[in-house]
Amino acid sequence: MSAPVLEVRNLKRDYTSSGGLFRAPKVVHAVKGVNFSLAQGKTLAVVGESGCGKSTLARMITLIDAPTAGEILIDGQAVDSHHVTHEMRQKVQIVFQNPYGSLNPRQKIGDVLSEPLLLNTRLSAAERREQAMAMLVKVGLGPEHFNRYPHMFSGGQRQRIAIARALMLNPRFLVLDEPVSALDLSVQAQVLNLLKDLQEEFGLTYVFISHDLSVVRYIADEVMVMYFGDVVEHGSRDAVFADPQHDYTRTLFAATPRADVASIRERLAKKAALAQ
Ligand SMILES: Nc1ncnc2c1ncn2[C@@H]1O[C@H](COP(=O)(O)OP(=O)(O)OP(=O)(O)O)[C@@H](O)[C@H]1O
Ligand SMILES: [Mg+2]
Repeated sequence: MSAPVLEVRNLKRDYTSSGGLFRAPKVVHAVKGVNFSLAQGKTLAVVGESGCGKSTLARMITLIDAPTAGEILIDGQAVDSHHVTHEMRQKVQIVFQNPYGSLNPRQKIGDVLSEPLLLNTRLSAAERREQAMAMLVKVGLGPEHFNRYPHMFSGGQRQRIAIARALMLNPRFLVLDEPVSALDLSVQAQVLNLLKDLQEEFGLTYVFISHDLSVVRYIADEVMVMYFGDVVEHGSRDAVFADPQHDYTRTLFAATPRADVASIRERLAKKAALAQ
């Protein structure tokens, strides 16, 4: 059997606040020792309430942030988090909740998609253009969008663009951090279907972070529940939904009616207000 695409062993991340004249430095154990392995073509959903460490985990496995302790293996190869190689970096990509924040408003979509090829391959301009065009079509947009700017797209279309950009260098896995939470329900469904289609076509592996259990139920093969930095439950989707073992999982499931869009909106609005 081939090695899992992604494996993490006892992964930890602490944050230390610097403290101050009258404040002692404080350590937050954001992720306390996470273990899992994920086979190619599968989707692991990570759920848990705000602040439980989901995005911290996402930043470690996308090699953006180095763990305090533990190991990450990609295709069976251990990652040296302090000296991440170019090749390793290309194997993982992340898609965020708000693609507008990560798209340069002055860059045409064609250039957004071609740029990773320009920076990481020796393809000619014509080849880069051809591949970018092909990817636009794969994500349900068209060549006519090639010369448009991000503001000319809807939220759902921008998320398609972010997904297309993430796929340009043929990554082994994608981390999707609340990728549909900011979208209307009907658009959410379209983007989720797209992700499923792309997964099948490219044999992609996903780590999918979400608050919305109806989304998780739709997209996940496995579900991992985090609580204050710990994994309190991890199993197949069907097992976790049918018979949640941990008290916290039961509470979480009870507290989240299907497609609880209102509460997601409220949370996003709060976050946006805090970010300003
Ligand atoms: N750069 C940082 N410096 C200090 N503390 C941090 C930092 N990033 C995250 N934390 C803390 O680590 C904990 C986990 O945060 P994280 O962002 O991973 O949560 P989350 O599960 O993604 O939450 P949400 O659902 O709101 O996105 C929180 O207590 C947070 O305050
Ligand atoms: Mg987060």
